[in-house]
Amino acid sequence: MNFSLNKIFVASACLLALSCTVASAPLSSPTTTSLSALPSPTVPYASEDPNMPLWGPDSSDVDPQPIRNSLGATVLGPQNHPLELENPSLFAPPTTDHGDIPNAKWPFDFSHNRLQTGGWARQQNVNDMPISTEMAGVDMRLEAGAIRELHWHTSAEWGYVLKGSTQVTTVTPDGQNYLATVNKGDLWYFPAGQPHSLQATADDPAGTEFLLVFDNGTFSDDSTFLLTDLLAHLPKEVIAKNFQLPQSAFDRIPGQQLYIFPSVPPASNVEAPYDPQGQTPDPYSFPLSQMNAMQLPGGTIKIADSTNFKVAQTIAVGEITLEPGAMREIHWHPTQAEWDYFIEGNARITLFAANSNARTFDYQGGDIAYIPQSYGHYVENMGNTTLHYLEILKSDKFQDVSLNQWLALTPPTLVKAHLDVSDETIAHFSKTKQYIVG
Ligand SMILES: *[C@@H]1O[C@H](CO)[C@@H](O)[C@H](O)[C@H]1NC(C)=O
Ligand SMILES: *[C@@H]1O[C@H](CO)[C@@H](O)[C@H](O)[C@H]1NC(C)=O
Repeated sequence: MNFSLNKIFVASACLLALSCTVASAPLSSPTTTSLSALPSPTVPYASEDPNMPLWGPDSSDVDPQPIRNSLGATVLGPQNHPLELENPSLFAPPTTDHGDIPNAKWPFDFSHNRLQTGGWARQQNVNDMPISTEMAGVDMRLEAGAIRELHWHTSAEWGYVLKGSTQVTTVTPDGQNYLATVNKGDLWYFPAGQPHSLQATADDPAGTEFLLVFDNGTFSDDSTFLLTDLLAHLPKEVIAKNFQLPQSAFDRIPGQQLYIFPSVPPASNVEAPYDPQGQTPDPYSFPLSQMNAMQLPGGTIKIADSTNFKVAQTIAVGEITLEPGAMREIHWHPTQAEWDYFIEGNARITLFAANSNARTFDYQGGDIAYIPQSYGHYVENMGNTTLHYLEILKSDKFQDVSLNQWLALTPPTLVKAHLDVSDETIAHFSKTKQYIVG
């Protein structure tokens, strides 16, 4: 009975959805589904449409039009083909998308860039992408020797080196100092309010570029507390008294902030000055590039959070690679907001926001994705090359709930009552976390 019922629903779904793909039929073997496990079908089955994007990142000869099966029509007004080709899931969305979800994609190329002598910085915060209330990001470039000046801010700062190497310094409220050279693929972290500096070494003649993530969506790199800005706005008499020196000692301090400025690269053997309080007990940098990745079918993952990078109390990362066709499994982060940075490759993500609301976005190298706490999502490699991205959580621990694991560890009768899937299908669900499938 169940078999014929299924057939009828599949057939009618095929008539409605003009492209019905037989290959996408579920694994279920109807003969093993007992009658007692049958739900009372009060709603129709979900569409059989696989809802693939209508063109991929590798299609160049496509005339993009917002037409999906019987829905949509050609554009008669102006078209921006490069943007349409990059965003098939917005231009001709999967029919599973529904309702209203605020924008969750920001290419750094849309950011205003602050050009300085010696480098530049561009940022994304809640003004650019209002959904990103919990985290903000900065992409910063320093020529060899250039300095992002000594400063502090109200948010914690997490850094990932994209190219070259960056010398970082900090001093804690207890007066312990720390200095390190952070290489490509490695991290740093400075707690809120703790003063620090960033300087490009000469290891790479071009200097360095790095990604910064902050644990507050309202963060702005244009309103940090700068050493030069502080001293330019205090009476000289106060500065002289503070250091117990004649005012003439400060004749040449800058009259306004420097922010980013050129300088001589640090000597390769430079060390932090002798500190009578000692050096910080825990390092403020982490050699993520040296860590062994978990090798999984379809990709790799490295996790750095406060369990292995102790000082990182508010930001955790999963550095992920996905081979073509592979996918970061369907999951959510129970209490953590997610800010993703795409290093290379092409991805699509659907954000499921409860109450039938879902929207799919496409991403490529240089893009940011933002996923609020608890939103269901996946990250699928849509290209022909390895997808490399950073899954950054506002958290002391990298933590997620896997849909696959949840269903595998729930009584099968309960799962069947919801989904009308077979015992074989349920037996295939994974009791261990997959992270990546494909
Ligand atoms: C973020 O910073 C703003 C001030 O810029 C502050 O009002 C707000 O409470 C902060 N949010 C969090 C979650 O810390
Ligand atoms: C990418 O892969 C698709 C699907 O396998 C294929 O049709 C396409 O030609 C490939 N493109 C490139 C540039 O390799």
